[in-house]
Amino acid sequence: MTVKQRTNRKSPGSTNAVPRSDTRNGSERESARSGIRIDWRRIITRMLMMTAIMVAVYFSKANKTVQFAKQDEEIGKKFVEISCSEDYAEELRQFRGCTPRKCGRMVSDSLIKPGEVAALRNIAERGLALGGSSGGASILDLHSGALSQGNAFVNIYKLETSRKIFTGEDFKIYSHVKGKIQHAIADHFGIDKGQLYLTHPTFFSRITSAPPKTIHDEYWHPHVDKETYESFHYTSLLYLTDYGQEFEGGRFVFIDKDSNKTVEPRRGRVSAFTSGSENLHYVEQVTRGTRYAITVSFTCDPKHAIEDPKLER
Ligand SMILES: *[C@@H]1O[C@H](CO)[C@@H](O)[C@H](O)[C@H]1NC(C)=O
Repeated sequence: MTVKQRTNRKSPGSTNAVPRSDTRNGSERESARSGIRIDWRRIITRMLMMTAIMVAVYFSKANKTVQFAKQDEEIGKKFVEISCSEDYAEELRQFRGCTPRKCGRMVSDSLIKPGEVAALRNIAERGLALGGSSGGASILDLHSGALSQGNAFVNIYKLETSRKIFTGEDFKIYSHVKGKIQHAIADHFGIDKGQLYLTHPTFFSRITSAPPKTIHDEYWHPHVDKETYESFHYTSLLYLTDYGQEFEGGRFVFIDKDSNKTVEPRRGRVSAFTSGSENLHYVEQVTRGTRYAITVSFTCDPKHAIEDPKLER
């Protein structure tokens, strides 16, 4: 399609070719006079045009955005390996058997059951209803209790209303889903599951199109997770809403030299990737509706491990 566009865009150039066709007629008349004669001008013009088209195709490819995972496709498993950045060099020996050697990106729609997704979406809605950022991006961290409220954060476990909000079943599902993601990461990246630990921050997010009020509302800047949180080795996301249906914008974008790759959120879709600079990324601004997701982060460093959250008694 891009090639077609480019050729079309070239077509105003072919109006310029009118005088050229005159010259061709001229040289044809010439060749008629002198017998066989090679029409160099015509050959060179053709070659120049071919080169121009090739250059156009090259640059149109360079600005291309590739859909890595579309919302309306059901992906069993998709894994793309990319070469690791230097970011892990110092930790390779330290956390042997866990530090990424095989880097890449994985997407799966078959890991988490619809019922589990619905339960988690429900936890997110219930919890975030107790607070919410005055800007567009709110979080709820069940581990630390951090909940966006206005321009700051409160501890959800200190709120009187939170006591009746969560049940033991909520935490059970949360831990179970975390375990499945952890297992899938270990499987796909060829590491030992026992050496991979859940780490901070792991949280629910709710994004709307409300204008940003604080720096915490600005999620759309390109970044490397391992630069923001040094302890990260593997980052995963579980989407709880459908892109294009429940919200617009809000696609996840990997920034690569040749072309950017988008992951369109889909209910129950798990996306996991190594956290170093081989996976520079950002999330597009949400322009309509509400986008819910969970960020589940993993480290190989036991010092940074966090416990699964439990129901407070
Ligand atoms: C990828 O996205 C970044 C950030 O929006 C942008 O600056 C860059 O031009 C994009 N790259 C390509 C190849 O389209």
